[in-house]
Amino acid sequence: MPRVTFTEPDGAVVEIEANPGDSVMETAVRNGVQGIVAECGGSLSCATCHVFVREDEVDELPAMEEMEDEMLWGTAVDRQPNSRLSCQLRVTEDFDLHVTMPDTQV
Ligand code: FES
Repeated sequence: MPRVTFTEPDGAVVEIEANPGDSVMETAVRNGVQGIVAECGGSLSCATCHVFVREDEVDELPAMEEMEDEMLWGTAVDRQPNSRLSCQLRVTEDFDLHVTMPDTQV
């Protein structure tokens, strides 16, 4: 079963068994994980689903599209080299991803 491990803004670690095809944002919201707002519902227009991907896992993810890259300049907490928008990360069968949420999304 694919898995996503979230570190919430207060440091709590939540491990979720994820459904292939869902986004990481959907996985968080459906399971009540704290720290992702996802105002736009995943339509790539809010940047409130910002996460930091564990550094050794960044290169395993599909490269971001230009629009995600642009939206990441508008996050509440400054982007880092390991920043992604979690609505753009799609869970696959062999997923074992670790992400940390920023202190705030707005
Ligand atoms: S949920 Fe709005 S950009 Fe990801």
